[in-house]
Amino acid sequence: MVSAPRCRSGARGLLALLLLLPLPGARGLCGTPPTLSRAVPRDTSRTEGFPIGTEVTYRCSDPFVKIPGKSDTVVCLSNSQWSTIEEFCNGGCRATPRLKSAVLSKEDERRNYCPPGTTVSYVCRPGYEETELRPVITCLKNSTWSEAHEFCRGKSCGVPKGPEHGRAVDATNYLYGARVNIICDDGFRLRGRTFIQCTLKGDQVEWSQLPTCEAIPCLPPPDIPHGSRTVQSEQEFSFGLAVTYKCDQGFSLIGEASIHCTTKDHDNGEWSGPAPECKD
Ligand SMILES: *[C@@H]1O[C@H](CO)[C@@H](O)[C@H](O)[C@H]1NC(C)=O
Repeated sequence: MVSAPRCRSGARGLLALLLLLPLPGARGLCGTPPTLSRAVPRDTSRTEGFPIGTEVTYRCSDPFVKIPGKSDTVVCLSNSQWSTIEEFCNGGCRATPRLKSAVLSKEDERRNYCPPGTTVSYVCRPGYEETELRPVITCLKNSTWSEAHEFCRGKSCGVPKGPEHGRAVDATNYLYGARVNIICDDGFRLRGRTFIQCTLKGDQVEWSQLPTCEAIPCLPPPDIPHGSRTVQSEQEFSFGLAVTYKCDQGFSLIGEASIHCTTKDHDNGEWSGPAPECKD
């Protein structure tokens, strides 16, 4: 009397266990998705108990890459079995090296699968020209690209000319992208950028606009009481110009009789010293 219910409950427990097992048709669920040697399911949050109709998509494990056109998805069928899937990942090279001087050719840019043995070619970027190097790389057996070089070199802007009253300095590189500093002769100041750059114009290269070197003038020198100076007119007091002071009769000159227009900062003109004084 006491054991019978226990026995029945035991039988019910076994039945419940059987229902939970992922048997074909059992409760309409699929078990663990098929195992692939070169790919794993993208979503790893669920590993079993997939309702009928569930799709599981795989991704290729490193270093394998997907073969275009092959399916990467399985679906839980109405018989609680996963649909079949073929291996869809293979050895192959990934992203091609990025170069400063060249880009992948148009046709190679469209490739989405590069198995070992694939060769791709580069073409020069604007401002660059071909060299003796063959701009080709190959996907090697170990799924890495053969070494890529800077296959192209910058076009030359030619020897740079300086502006009038100035010159280009330390110019060693005239190729696309190169910068050359410009300085002005003594007595001239630079207006514009202090350098020029070999830049792209259409599909050719040329130096960017030259700055100009303009003459540095001084402000008119001061007039002094009881004296006069050699340059009287309100002309421009150009760099290097000397002005000499003279005292009226009966006055004597204190200080330097001559001052000249010079510059301390290569930009603004200023007189070399204070004007002298005339005292009686
Ligand atoms: C792949 O092979 C090339 C040439 O055989 C070798 O130089 C390179 O180091 C290899 N790369 C890797 C990641 O094994």
